[in-house]
Amino acid sequence: MATPHKIVVLTGAGISAESGIATFRAADGLWERHRIEDVATPEGFARDPALVHRFYNARRAAAAAAEPNAAHKALARLQAAGRHDLLIVTQNVDDLHERGGASNVLHMHGSLAGALCAECGHRWPAPAAMPPEDPCPACAAPQTRPDIVWFGEIPYHMDQIWDALREADLFVSIGTSGQVYPAAAFAQDAARAGARTLELNLEPSALTAEFDEARQGPATRLVPAWVDSLLA
Ligand code: OAD
Repeated sequence: MATPHKIVVLTGAGISAESGIATFRAADGLWERHRIEDVATPEGFARDPALVHRFYNARRAAAAAAEPNAAHKALARLQAAGRHDLLIVTQNVDDLHERGGASNVLHMHGSLAGALCAECGHRWPAPAAMPPEDPCPACAAPQTRPDIVWFGEIPYHMDQIWDALREADLFVSIGTSGQVYPAAAFAQDAARAGARTLELNLEPSALTAEFDEARQGPATRLVPAWVDSLLA
């Protein structure tokens, strides 16, 4: 096929795993130790905001202590080379893509760096540890939450993402289990619009059969090798 110009990369927890950040669905993953209903839904937050803040404060501390790895840096290198139009869509709430040098990153599930008022929708930078009792700086409501998209909520930037998928020559999924929609439908969305699709994941995912090509291995090996082949 012709050299792809427009590339959309979707990343998940697997790309940050080798930086020391826990994934969600591994045997020792976050969803083995915490109930989604308690820490990743608006209803859980309404029931016990202190528990939810403890969970995300721990995630924020883990992300701050982690360093971007060779996979994050390889995507930044691909962008910096300027030969492709590369959009990175991430389900991750850490900032390792940005700290690895990438720009043009859409955080479809929100970001640990942000705070959001559940009452008035005001957004501001989150402190390292968010105290549950902190009021909103705009409306003073005691409804401060992390700016994370929870189950039952609509992911961010969807119009921009769907536009990019429609125009993509190549869609690449990296380090995601393909269990959470709408991200799990992106490969089909892009393929339907004419893109080639590639999956780079440690092991076969729920969606491997849907991709034109799938490679298995750690992201720090697969992603730099794929970027090298594009820039060769
Ligand atoms: P998961 O934990 O569901 O999946 C991580 C994937 O990464 C798995 O398929 C692993 O095999 C793979 N993996 C692990 N280590 C890897 C490595 N070193 N190199 C390459 N791949 C590796 O995480 P996500 O798919 O990101 O949403 O989960 C999607 C969403 O579900 C998250 O954004 C989060 C979660 O619930 C919300 O909280 C809203």
